Amino acid sequence: MAENQQVDSPASDAGGYDAGALGLDIGTSRIVLANGPQGTQSQSQLNAFISVPYAKLTENILQQNRMVYHRNGKELCVYGNDSERFASFFNAVPRRPMQRGVLNAHEAMGQQIIQAIIEQMLPRARKNEMICFSVPGKGEGADANLVYHEAVLRNFLQGFGYQAKAINEGLAVVFAELQQENFTGIGISLGGGMCNVCVAFLSVPMLSFSIPMGGDYIDSSVSEVTAEPVTRVRLQKEESLDLARQPKDKVASALQIYYEEVMATLINKLREEFENSNSIPRLDRPLPIVLSGGTAKPRGFLQKFEGMLKASGFPAPVSEVRLASDPLTATARGCFIAALSEIK
Ligand SMILES: Nc1ncnc2c1ncn2[C@@H]1O[C@H](COP(=O)(O)OP(=O)(O)OP(=O)(O)O)[C@@H](O)[C@H]1O
Ligand SMILES: [Mg+2]
Repeated sequence: MAENQQVDSPASDAGGYDAGALGLDIGTSRIVLANGPQGTQSQSQLNAFISVPYAKLTENILQQNRMVYHRNGKELCVYGNDSERFASFFNAVPRRPMQRGVLNAHEAMGQQIIQAIIEQMLPRARKNEMICFSVPGKGEGADANLVYHEAVLRNFLQGFGYQAKAINEGLAVVFAELQQENFTGIGISLGGGMCNVCVAFLSVPMLSFSIPMGGDYIDSSVSEVTAEPVTRVRLQKEESLDLARQPKDKVASALQIYYEEVMATLINKLREEFENSNSIPRLDRPLPIVLSGGTAKPRGFLQKFEGMLKASGFPAPVSEVRLASDPLTATARGCFIAALSEIK
């Protein structure tokens, strides 16, 4: 959706699979597709792959196990959700088509793989079917390359027969979660590769930005200082991290430290952008903040974020800080709502 374009009618009467609209969140860690009534039907695939040398026997095994793969000359690439299972057989870390929110320039196979994952997820496009896909906001590490990232993904989607439109990830969170508030407030997505923020008034984005830190940064930093493998760090983070408790071991303690760094960087940047922006209208009421994305999922995250925001002397009144109803699908649901508003 173009900046400053109004969504005149929210998707409360969204009509299921026949709505002619789809929402696609193309994230660094996961790709999520939303369709169905109000975008509530969703499916996701890991945005990752693992490659092994081609051998007929290996290919047979992949076929027997119904794993999705792509043959590229002398390599077999297992991608999407199967990549995690396959990686654990080989004790390897999956490769990623994207890094810090955008296409990974250092991964030669990246574009082919992301195209294959998306193709596998999308239904066959009907005439004029609309798809909105998420893109990050500008920020350190995401600037000129955003133009390329957006254009390549749009081309893929158009190539599959869709009308495709990019939407800022933070704005998608506003669409998904702030319907009751007339799409006015701050949407924040804390993902794998980055964090995205959008301040919107009546669905119009007034300010959006990204920071190049997210779950991947936390995992790799903790792995570096504790000498634990990055996969083990990630699993501990996802399965048992509680930010409200005293950490019980070295990994938990390092996770808390880097979580606090990410939150502090995000809150500082938000304060700075708010103070320096001259596009934010005078506020007649306090703004709600919605937190989404996988990195917002640990226990205690919301309370910690609220506490740090209060202590930061944030320059605008905030009515509440809450978690998205489903942090892993908010961006895709918001993209779906944007797509519906485009076809009305
Ligand atoms: N329960 C959990 N606790 C902590 N972290 C989690 C949990 N579940 C997922 N994550 C983390 O969330 C991140 C993925 O989040 P998400 O799917 O929102 O990212 P993404 O949209 O793919 O990436 P981005 O928006 O940065 O491009 C990963 O770092 C993952 O480890
Ligand atoms: Mg995301």
